[in-house]
Amino acid sequence: MTIRNFTEATLTAEVLRRIEATPNPRLKQVMTSMVKHLHAFVREVRPTQDEWFEGIKFLTETGHWCDDKRQEFILMSDTLGVSMLVDFINYGKEGQETESTVLGPFFVEGAPELPMGASIVKPGTVGEPCVASGCVKGADGKPIAGAVIDVWQAAGDGFYDVQTPDGPNLRARFRTGADGKYHFKCVRPASYPVPHDGPVGRMLVATGRHPMRPGHLHFMIEAPGHEKLVTHLFVRGDEYLDSDAVFGVKDSLIVDFEKTADGAYATRYDFVLKPARQSARAA
Ligand code: BEZ
Ligand code: FE
Repeated sequence: MTIRNFTEATLTAEVLRRIEATPNPRLKQVMTSMVKHLHAFVREVRPTQDEWFEGIKFLTETGHWCDDKRQEFILMSDTLGVSMLVDFINYGKEGQETESTVLGPFFVEGAPELPMGASIVKPGTVGEPCVASGCVKGADGKPIAGAVIDVWQAAGDGFYDVQTPDGPNLRARFRTGADGKYHFKCVRPASYPVPHDGPVGRMLVATGRHPMRPGHLHFMIEAPGHEKLVTHLFVRGDEYLDSDAVFGVKDSLIVDFEKTADGAYATRYDFVLKPARQSARAA
């Protein structure tokens, strides 16, 4: 039977009917929900043709800004709170385990592995000297040996190495020994803006928002038998803790960076990893 002459009232049901035969059940669920929500959005907003085309142009431009160094769609997801929503759904908070937060676009696979205690700061880098230390533990409180800690951060001027021509800087991997302890030299994290020279930056301005993130150190910690932890340590007292452009701040991740007798800053934090999940998807 040919079905035609759709109306605003009947069209959505027909689009949903046509994807009913989608063989992959998860894809069917995702597509069905996407069509329902997209149609509901259009019914609510009632865009003019010009407005709809403006939206298409915005998404097209967002795609054109993406390359191997810049991911404008991730930035859009981050600044609209979607990345954190996905993080809440997948990592959540159960007990005393360290909370997770947004990965961000500046993680680089394969950072140099340095001996414990080394500096991740190249000479000439802008920033105040700082030492970060602590321990990686399991939920049972026991130190984890052989945990691989990726750390990365922006310089004191707010730029990550991948945003400058200077090559690898302010990132490294460390491996814990039997005591689970870590320590390394870095710079005191400073607040900085997310990249805002593209379409996402325009969206922030148009919606009356600033692009700033509070100062933070990034960590990704992996250890056999444990869930991978992606998180930050935020600087207590930073002026942007309550208005992070990507909604990543959690109270439990705010730590003191205190000036020590030798003039360097120091921070301490013990990471607690969750045991590995039994199955890939919880029921
Ligand atoms: C970051 O912290 O590096 C970051 C996170 C989300 C968007 C942009 C930057
Ligand atoms: Fe960052």
